[in-house]
Amino acid sequence: MRSHTCGELHSGHKGKSVTLCGWVASARNHGGIIFVDLRDRFGITQITFDPEAEGSPEELLEQAASLGNEDVLKIEGVVALRAEGQKNPHRPTGEIEVFAKKMEILSKSRPIPIDLSEKNETAIETRLRYRYLDLRRPSMLQGLEFRSRFCHALRDYLLGEAFIEVETPILTKTTPEGARDYLVPSRIHQNKFYALPQSPQIFKQLLMVGGLDRYFQIARCFRDEDLRADRQPEFTQLDLEMSFVEEEDVLQVVEGAVVHAFKRCLGMDLVAPFPRLRHEEAMERFGTDKPDLRFGLELVDLSALVGRTEFKVFTSALEAGGCVKAIPVPEGGSFSRKEIQNLEEVAKEYGARGLAWCKLGDEGLTGPVAKFFREGLEESLIEKTGLQPGGLLLFGAGDRAIVLKSLAEVRNTLGKKLELVKPGDFAFAWVTHFPLFEWNLDKERYEFSHHPFTAPEDWDVDFSQNTDKVPSRAYDLVLNGWELGSGSIRIHRQDVQQRIFDFLGMSRQEAQEKFGFLLNAFQFGAPPHGGFAFGIDRIVTLALGLESIRDVIAFPKTASAACLMTEAPSPADPHQLEELKIKTVTKENPASRS
Ligand code: AMO
Ligand code: AMP
Repeated sequence: MRSHTCGELHSGHKGKSVTLCGWVASARNHGGIIFVDLRDRFGITQITFDPEAEGSPEELLEQAASLGNEDVLKIEGVVALRAEGQKNPHRPTGEIEVFAKKMEILSKSRPIPIDLSEKNETAIETRLRYRYLDLRRPSMLQGLEFRSRFCHALRDYLLGEAFIEVETPILTKTTPEGARDYLVPSRIHQNKFYALPQSPQIFKQLLMVGGLDRYFQIARCFRDEDLRADRQPEFTQLDLEMSFVEEEDVLQVVEGAVVHAFKRCLGMDLVAPFPRLRHEEAMERFGTDKPDLRFGLELVDLSALVGRTEFKVFTSALEAGGCVKAIPVPEGGSFSRKEIQNLEEVAKEYGARGLAWCKLGDEGLTGPVAKFFREGLEESLIEKTGLQPGGLLLFGAGDRAIVLKSLAEVRNTLGKKLELVKPGDFAFAWVTHFPLFEWNLDKERYEFSHHPFTAPEDWDVDFSQNTDKVPSRAYDLVLNGWELGSGSIRIHRQDVQQRIFDFLGMSRQEAQEKFGFLLNAFQFGAPPHGGFAFGIDRIVTLALGLESIRDVIAFPKTASAACLMTEAPSPADPHQLEELKIKTVTKENPASRS
């Protein structure tokens, strides 16, 4: 239908007859001359309807005067150079205009309910309801286009490293990754259900037993969990698995893929290997297993130092088996009380009881709790924290988990407040040796911390001793404070897998019902193997400097897992339910907000 796109004409096309198709981005009438900005995915070209121009029939001008935004046109015309002063240096097509000779209105548009300008002040609900209109905004189109190129780069890299791309089932059995499953009733097998995969985990391990050696997939995963800016109920992983490998082999392949994709898609040279931190070290230094390494402001442990003060907050924390940690903030001495109070609010939001502080001036430590640090403690505190004059110390005291969590959040807030994080900085890091199990406070029992197929560092370890400290062979890739991906070396031994299920309190019968096929497979010659998966939605969001993964998903869901456009989920047809032999019971619906 067209000879060119709306993004490619330039002065070299002067005098050429062209045919363009696109949407009316705007139409303006300047003293009888009508200018239309015609837009498609590739750009915008100015179309000019000039009554003085040769071969410009009156009907054409009448038609042009009737155009509304978002009408779809086919224009035939001639490329001309714009007069000096009329050029638009901000647009690749800004040197030219197309004088219309003929126009066909391919489709009319009603006034659209959303703002397509990049200011975009439309409520998110409206944007999601009319997603097909929201997608017309250049930034949305560019996001999806970038995502497509990024996936292509990852694919190219892995295919070049002898990986095989394999599709694994969507209608399957539970694959536990710590979330609830989405269930699909079976019509043929009454009272039975498929589960949608939370990840291809078990299948990729079975592919290793099958001898594929190196597998990858750009895989859709489904998890019924509480949603946030970085979580959707269905999302995409770059999933991979390798045989006869140790941690370093997997880490290097993932680094290679990420470095390749950043170079090809952003022209950026990332430096590999990425820093590697053991889990305990990340927790000690940053208070979190997903540290933002774009800036310092590391936590310092003061538990061994401050036991002698009279400051009740510290002494009672230590007596109760907790800890005292601090963040030294260079130049934080200039913070007002109000600013410090705001930081305290952040700490409190994450369970802390307060955020004691002192400043270092010419006269030594000052501030409400400085009086507790006299008599020798002051010097050691300054030495241990490296505090410089003009600096501020922020303290957290109490239960270790709460101190770490709250100071980690205070640290992230400081990173933004002090503008230590700059757009375009990418600080990748690996966090390794996650604990194998973690205590679930609500359920009052241990659960796997990655998934139950992760190998312990020591095959023969006794899980009942120091359970929450048993190191595993799991690793995470983090970027700018986000968990980007996870992986591990797996259990390939049936006896060890069985011991894990036993320890997690799964009866032999339940283990057989859920994972019998995996336990069986391990009896037929399973190679040692390991792998990894990272969130495509998350890495693309961060690469583009966006805040929500929703912005790089064509048709995302709301925080209550609804699609406002299609209105899914929706009641099933009674006839379908009848076939499935399912009866629904109406109760109060907790998910009625959007
Ligand atoms: P994990 O559960 O850590 O590991 O998931 C890997 C990565 O997938 C992304 N991700 C999500 N992205 C968007 N919305 C969600 N709801 C969501 N949940 C997870 C994250 C996360 O780091 N099978 C293992 C991997 C392995 O061991 O090889 C797994 O799925 O970026
Ligand atoms: P209080 O004695 O409760 O008035 O607290 C004195 C100072 O200690 C205040 O600045 C509080 O914010 C701070 N504070 C109280 N509890 C804690 C805590 N658990 N960790 C750090 N600071 C605290």
